[in-house]
Order: sequence, then structure tokens, then C-alpha cells
Amino acid sequence: LDDLIADGVQDRFVLLRADFNVPLDGFTITDDGRIQAALPTITKLVGAGAKLVIAAHLGRPKGGEPGGRDPKMSLTPVAGRLGQLLDQRVRLADDVVGYSASANTERIDKGEIAMLANVRCDPRETGSPQEREQLASELAALVPGGAFVSDGFGVVHREQASVVDVARKLPAYAGDLVARETEVLRRLVGDPARPYVVILGGSKVSDKLGVLSNLLPKVDKLLVGGAMCFTFLAAQGHDVGGSKLESDQIDTCKDLLSRYADTLVLPTDVVVASEFAEDAQTRTVGVSDMPEGWLGLDVGPQTVELFGSHLTDAATVFWNGPMGVFEMAPFAAGTTGVAEAVADSPAFSVIGGGDSASAIRAAGLDESRFGHISTGGGASLEFLEGQVLPGIAVLEEGA
Ligand code: 3PG
Repeated sequence: LDDLIADGVQDRFVLLRADFNVPLDGFTITDDGRIQAALPTITKLVGAGAKLVIAAHLGRPKGGEPGGRDPKMSLTPVAGRLGQLLDQRVRLADDVVGYSASANTERIDKGEIAMLANVRCDPRETGSPQEREQLASELAALVPGGAFVSDGFGVVHREQASVVDVARKLPAYAGDLVARETEVLRRLVGDPARPYVVILGGSKVSDKLGVLSNLLPKVDKLLVGGAMCFTFLAAQGHDVGGSKLESDQIDTCKDLLSRYADTLVLPTDVVVASEFAEDAQTRTVGVSDMPEGWLGLDVGPQTVELFGSHLTDAATVFWNGPMGVFEMAPFAAGTTGVAEAVADSPAFSVIGGGDSASAIRAAGLDESRFGHISTGGGASLEFLEGQVLPGIAVLEEGA
């Protein structure tokens, strides 16, 4: 970004890819962390007099609603919040590369901002290589003589038109967020200070298998919480009642448990509920005593203590995925407890993932008590797995 600014962007178009895929309750943003994280790059570009055009996605629209007019997929709340934070108007188009987008783009002056409609509302964003290339050409044509800045770290693992293909159509640069995120995560991939402890939560073992198999040989301890712990507990022979279970992953979990018995740490107690509801009856039980039909929705206090004991002497910690259904108050204590234990740990801690970062903010924990809070969920996991992230690779290719 600094190279681009040094070259001069006054009066020049800059197309910025940001990740504004924020959690919404109806039309209210419940955590604006990803918008806040994009501000340094945006203010630098606006301050340098660029004519800024922002491309971003929200959710996963099916089949590409034309023009992004489905209100649930609209970036309106995002454009509103960004405008409020910057105290300037953000002109939101109601299409991606159509009449509204070009009219808005033509209308902006230096230091002003236009935002395209949710890019995923154009099916070519996630389409075939030919379709993506065509959309990328149209995106580039919106900003004649312009440059591309990639700053949506949360989406750099996606091979999509506004992330990858457009970087081949315009001079491309990494934004400050992408630069900082990759620098921090590289420290974890390279030679992290030990003991290196990873905490993984979230709902599906199948989503995390890549990172599990890749990290297990490298870490000192891997603590497993979230709904995915029940597949591991079932693999250990426990009856997990009505808890979420991926039966087709039990054998893989058995294999990992036998190969990495000293590294994997599983919950010893869980909070179970009579149904999946905030006002359900709840109980805290040992993992061998889960009542039939009840669902495990959080890890218990003994587990929080156990996980915490592995964090007190850790030197590096990476945490991805909540420990339970933290959006519902009765099942938030596990996630909050682990977040506090990470904050108290002397380790350099990296929080990966929208949900874990939201949980930290929801718990009111001071963000400065963590080494780095990543805006990327899937992206940070794939980075740690050692995968090539197409949105980063394309910038390196260009450089
Ligand atoms: C995310 O929320 O992790 C990013 O915005 C990417 O979204 P996606 O998983 O829908 O590609």
C-alpha cells in the first residue's frame, strides 16, 4: 500500500477489495470488527486523494440475485456503518458492474468513496474461470487507469473474481490489513516460540480436519472444544446423547487420538441442554454421564480450568472457533472462560476467526490483551495449514 501511495494516488481510481462479511441481526451489525479493521487502509487512500471504489461481499447469495436487491444480502448496513466511522458519505450502488456502479464511480471526486453492491450477487464472482475473468475485466473497466488494493484478508483463501482475477487486470497491491495478518501468521507457520498451544472449536470436525492433521505434528498441545469435540468424545467411546455428531468422521478421530494421544486434549465436562434453545433446561455433566437425548452445547467449568492450565506456561497460542453456542447466554461461559484464559496467558496469542473475535468483543475483553486478532476464519486456518492462498499468491505473482 505504501508503494502505491508513494507513486501517487491523488485523483486516481483505486479499487479496494475488503471483507465486510459482518454478523447481522436483521439489519443491525452485531460486530463491526471487520469494518474497523479496514479503516487504516481506507483512511490512507482517502487521505492521499484516491477515488476509492470498494468491492465487498456479504453472506453467500444463492444463484446471484440480480443487482443485489435481496435486502438480506445488501451491503446497506455496512455502507452506513463505514460512512459513520469515517464521517463521510459512502455511495452504495445497487449493482456490481452495471449502470448504478458506473454512475457512482464516475461521480466520485478525489477522497470520496463509492461501494459496489455485494459482489457475490453477480454469479460470475464465484463462477467458472472464464466467467470470473469476464467479471474481473468489467471491474477493472469501472476504474480506468486505476490500481487494485487487496485488503479483505478474510476472503483471500477464495478463488473469486474480485479477490484473484481482478489482481491480474490492474496493478495490484496488498493493503495494510493483508500485510499485517500475513506477517503475524507467518510467525506461527515458521518457528513459533514453545510451548505452542492451539485451541480449536466450532461445529464441524470435517471442516477442521486439514488444520488438525497439519498442526498436530507441530504443536505441543491441541485443545478441542465446540460441537466438534463430540465426534472425538464418541471416538473415545463416550455416549454423547443428542449432541452434534459426524459419524463418518469417528474413525478419523480414533486414528488421530491414537497417534497424538499426548497432544490432543478433550473436554472432561460439558453443559447439556434438553433442547437447542436459550430457555432449555441445562445441566453440567461429566463427559461419561451425558443423558440420553440431551445436547452438549458448551464445555463445562472443569474443562475451562483444564484448558487454562495448558495456557499458563504457553509461549504461543492460536485459537479458532467458539467452545459452545456462545450467542445464547446459558452456553457462553466456556467460550468466555477460554477467552479470559488466553488473555491471561503470557503467550503471544493469535485469535483466528470472526466468531472467536466476536466472542472476545462480546465478553468485553480488552483487545490489547491478545497478540493479534485476525479478521480471517477460514483464511487464517488455511494459512496455518500451509496452503497457498490464491488471493495472496496472485499478489506475489504480480510483485
Ligand atoms: C468469512 O466470513 O470467513 C469470509 O468473509 C469468507 O466468507 P465465505 O466463507 O462465505 O467465503
